[in-house]
Amino acid sequence: MPQPDPATLPLERKASLLSGGDFWSTQPLDEAGVAAVVLTDGPHGIRRQKAGADHLGFHASEPATCFAPAVAVGSSWDAELAERVGAAVGREARALGVGVVLGPGVNIKRSPLCGRNFEYYSEDPLLSGVLGAAFVRGAQAQGVGATVKHFAVNNQETERMRVSAEVDERTLREIYLAAFERVVTEARPAAVMSAYNKINGVPASENRRLLTDVLRTEWGFEGVVVSDWGAVGDRVAALAAGLDLQMPGPDEAHDAAIVEAVREGRLDQAVVDASVRRVAALARLAVASETGVDAVAADHHALAREVAADCVVLLKNDKYTLPLADGLRLTVVGEFAARPQFQGGGSSLVNATRVDTPLDALRSLGHLVTYVPGFTTDGTGDAETLREEAVRAVCGAEVAVVFVGLRGETEGVDRENLDLPADQVELVRAVAAVAPRTVVVLSTGGVVSLEGWHDSADAIVAGWLLGQAGGSALADVLSGAVNPSGRLAETVPLRLEDTPSFLNFPGEAGQVRHGEGVMVGYRHYESVGRAVRYPFGHGLSYTTFETDALSVDVTGDDTATVRLRVTNTGERTGKHVVQVYVATTAGRVRRPARELRAFTKVELRPGESRIVELLLERRAFAHYDIEADRWHVAPGAYTVQIGESAAEVVAEQTVTLIGDNIAAALSLDSAIGDWLAHPVAGPMLRAALMAEATEQERQQAEANGDMMEMVASIPARQFLHFPGVSVSTDDLTEILEATR
Ligand code: GLC
Repeated sequence: MPQPDPATLPLERKASLLSGGDFWSTQPLDEAGVAAVVLTDGPHGIRRQKAGADHLGFHASEPATCFAPAVAVGSSWDAELAERVGAAVGREARALGVGVVLGPGVNIKRSPLCGRNFEYYSEDPLLSGVLGAAFVRGAQAQGVGATVKHFAVNNQETERMRVSAEVDERTLREIYLAAFERVVTEARPAAVMSAYNKINGVPASENRRLLTDVLRTEWGFEGVVVSDWGAVGDRVAALAAGLDLQMPGPDEAHDAAIVEAVREGRLDQAVVDASVRRVAALARLAVASETGVDAVAADHHALAREVAADCVVLLKNDKYTLPLADGLRLTVVGEFAARPQFQGGGSSLVNATRVDTPLDALRSLGHLVTYVPGFTTDGTGDAETLREEAVRAVCGAEVAVVFVGLRGETEGVDRENLDLPADQVELVRAVAAVAPRTVVVLSTGGVVSLEGWHDSADAIVAGWLLGQAGGSALADVLSGAVNPSGRLAETVPLRLEDTPSFLNFPGEAGQVRHGEGVMVGYRHYESVGRAVRYPFGHGLSYTTFETDALSVDVTGDDTATVRLRVTNTGERTGKHVVQVYVATTAGRVRRPARELRAFTKVELRPGESRIVELLLERRAFAHYDIEADRWHVAPGAYTVQIGESAAEVVAEQTVTLIGDNIAAALSLDSAIGDWLAHPVAGPMLRAALMAEATEQERQQAEANGDMMEMVASIPARQFLHFPGVSVSTDDLTEILEATR
C-alpha cells in the first residue's frame, strides 16, 4: 500500500520530523510509515553508541573495524582503495544498524595546525574530492547513505562553533567548495553536513547561498542537509536557508518555532514540506536488523592491513637502508612500537576489534628484535634514563628502528606547533649517533617538522595514523613484503612560519581571514619558490620508474587528453602515482605556479611499461572569475606538466586554448580603460571623444597615447565630469546599447 505523503500530516508532526528523535536517530512518523534511521560516525569506522551518547567519543561504542583515517588514505592517492574502505565501512554500518554514515570529511588542510587534519585527505581539492567521492560510492553501494562534511570552510578547531571564515569568492570556489562539488556531483551522497562555523559572517547552518543556491540549484543536490551536532542556532533561519534536519534531537522548542513561523507567515509551508519529504526519503535507509561485525571482522582486518600499507609514504631511504633484510639484528626503539597511535580523538573514534603492534608484527616476520621504549608519552619514565637505556640497547644492533609520533591529536583542539616532543627528538639524535643505520617511523595525524634530526636518519617513513592493522602494515613495508607507494597529500614545511596561513591562523576576534587566497599548500610554496622539507606528491619506492612519451592533444571545447608511458625500471613490482599538473598565466588573475588536475596509480612489474591516458576536462584549465561570477577558461597557453611531486616536473607540453571570450559587461561604473578596450564600444567612444577636437588636440591625443594608461582605471561615470570631456551619460548609454 503506498505510504501517505508525509507532507499531508499536521504541521506539528511534520515539524517534529525536522529534528532528531534522539542523539543518533531521526524521528519516526508511524502514521506515514516513516521509520527512524540511525546516523552516526564516522569516516574510518563505525562509532555506534548503544548506552551513553556523545559527539566527541567519550562514551563507549560497539566494536568495529578501525580503518586508516583519511590522512593515510589521502596519502594512498588511490580512489579504488578509498572506495573499498567506503564499502567496508558501509557493510559494518548495516551490521550495526546504521543507515547513514557521517563521513567522509573533505575539508582542505589549510594549516598543518588544524587538530582535525587526520580526518581529512589533503591540502589539494582535487585529491580530496576524488577520494571523498570514491568513499561515498563505496559506502552507498552497500545500501547505506554517506554524508559529506563539513560544508564548508571548516579548516580549524579553534572557536569552531563561532569563528567566521572570511574568504573571497574565487578562493571559496577554487579551494574550499571544489572537493564538495566533486563529491556531490559525481557520487551523489545521501546527505551533506553543514559546518559549525560562519562563512563571511553567516552561519553555515543558515547560509542560503551555500545550502540552496550553490548546493541545490547549481550542483543539483537532492539529498538531506543535516546540521553538525548542536550547530543550529536559529532553526527557522536554518530551515529557510535549506537545512533540513537538525541533530541531535528532539527539540520541541525549535519544532514550535517552525510551527509558529509558518502560522505567522514568516516561513513558507512549502519549504517545510520539501524538507519533510527529504528527511522521510532518508529514513528509507533505516536498517531493520543488526548482526554485529563478527562475521566480517577477520576479512576487514586483513583489508585494513592492505589499505594501511598502501598509505605509507617513504620519505627518505639513503644507502638502501630499507627494506630490512631478513635475519638482521634490530633494535626497535620507541613506545609507539608497542603502543601504536592508530587514530585520532573525537567523534571519529572507533572501538577497534583488535590492534596490531609494529613490535609484534616485526617479530612475527622473523626479525631478531630487541625492544626499548626510549621515552614515555605519559611522563611515567625519566627521559634521560630511558634515552641512555636505548643507546645501550642499540649498540650491537645492525639497524635501529625508532617509532616516534604524537599523542592527543583530536577534534576540538588545534596544535600549537609542528614539533615532535623534545624527548623524542633527543632520542632520535642519540640513537642515530651510535647505530650503524637508523630508520625513523612517524605516527602522526598531520605533518610534523623533521628539522633537528632529519639528516641523522638514514630512512624516514611517514606512517600517519594507519588504523588497527597499522602495526602489521608498517612491518610489511619495513620488511619489503609491501613496496611503499604512498605520496604526500600535504606539504612537509621546513618551518611553521613558512606556511601560507601562518599569519592568519587561527584568527582573532571571531574572524579568520583566508588572506592567502587560493595559495594554499603547494600552491603557495611553488608560487613563491619557498623551499620545503618534502613537497606535496613526494614519495619513494623500493623500485624506480621512468616517464616518457608524453603527448597532450586538445580535443575541442578546451578539453585535452594526456598520454604518457610509465616504465618500472627497477627490480621489484611497485605502484607509481602519475601526477598531472597544469601551469598557466592566462587570465586576469594570479594563478598558482601549477595545480594538480589529474592523477592515477598504476602497478607495474619490473620492466613493465604502461601507456596511461588521462582526460583534462575544461575545468582543469579554468579559474573562477568573480566579475563574471562563473568558471572561466581564459584564452592562452597552458602547460601540462607531469610531476614526481609538485616541486619536480619530469615532462611537460604546452597547448593553446581558445577559451571563453567574456568581454566584461560594460556599465557606467566600468573603468574607462575597459570601455576603450571593448571591441565595439572602444572605437565608438574614441570617435565621440574626438568629435569636437581640433586638429591640434587630435595630434596631442595621439602623442599622449600613454596618457590614457594613466586614466584607464577611472570609472566612466566620473570620467565624464573631467574638464574637456565632451561625452555625456546619454552618449555612453547609446554606446552601451550598441554593444548588446
Ligand atoms: C561532531 C563532528 C562531526 C560528527 C558529529 C557527530 O562534532 O563535528 O564530524 O559527525 O559531531 O558526532
